[in-house]
Amino acid sequence: MPVSIDHKNYAARPGLLDGRVILITGASGGLGKALAIDCARAGATVILSGRNKAKLERVYDQIEALGAPQPALAPLDLATATAADYDALAATVAREFGKLDGLVHAAAMLGDRSPLESYDVPTWCRVLHVNLTAPFILTQVMLANLRKAADAAIVFASSGVAKRTRPFWGAYAVSKVGLEAVREMLCEELEGVAKIRAYSVNPGPMRTAMRSAAYPAEDPNTLRAPEAMTGAFLFLLGPDSVGIEGRYFDAQ
Ligand SMILES: NC(=O)c1ccc[n+]([C@@H]2O[C@H](COP(=O)([O-])OP(=O)(O)OC[C@H]3O[C@@H](n4cnc5c(N)ncnc54)[C@H](OP(=O)(O)O)[C@@H]3O)[C@@H](O)[C@H]2O)c1
Repeated sequence: MPVSIDHKNYAARPGLLDGRVILITGASGGLGKALAIDCARAGATVILSGRNKAKLERVYDQIEALGAPQPALAPLDLATATAADYDALAATVAREFGKLDGLVHAAAMLGDRSPLESYDVPTWCRVLHVNLTAPFILTQVMLANLRKAADAAIVFASSGVAKRTRPFWGAYAVSKVGLEAVREMLCEELEGVAKIRAYSVNPGPMRTAMRSAAYPAEDPNTLRAPEAMTGAFLFLLGPDSVGIEGRYFDAQ
């Protein structure tokens, strides 16, 4: 059933995510951190995942200071995590929370901005692993927890290059195109058998470390902060989007 809500300007109401458990990768910085704080502010218990424990702890402290539900830490380096690491995280979520209502894949690496002819092959492999294979594995191991929620949502952070490939975006663009394929397959495979929705959201240009690396000459003050781009994600993670079919959203 279509729901007419302006997802780009969506403002979460207090208590929107009360009782929901949401795991966010890349929660140490940029969009993932902004999302973790806003989800917690809206009442969710947030599982903060990232590769840098000290940075995650700072986000944890910020959330605690808000008086929001106590978050949890889930250190996981997506470049090096083993099958046992993924299984252990899924088992911990099952034991501690008994379900997972939301899974947000915000972590990513840019890799090189160079022609395919000279693209560094080890970097290519690392980018595809961190940006595409790791979100696939994390989704796969978390499906049992997601099935236990009344209505669960998976949200992949996407990019304009997922829909319009441009030169010099290399493995990053291929990873985002690949995530679209993963999301589309998931939607069709889960339709009618699980109450799990799967979306991708292009947040558009944001003032983050990744954007500075991609456009070093750009004035960051001309860009929106990631905190301004969380609305569409909260909309998709909460009850207002139940009934909206999985698809790609442009949040810019
Ligand atoms: N910024 C933009 O303009 C823009 C535009 C379109 C789409 N996006 C997408 O939005 C999402 C967030 O990007 P952002 O701009 O917020 O980037 P960011 O500031 O660079 O943050 C990336 C996050 O991913 C984490 N990460 C990187 N490699 C990792 C690994 N091996 N294991 C675990 N975590 C890892 C980083 O951890 P550390 O803190 O440890 O580095 C950081 O938390 C990405 O999926 C990106 O593709 C961004």
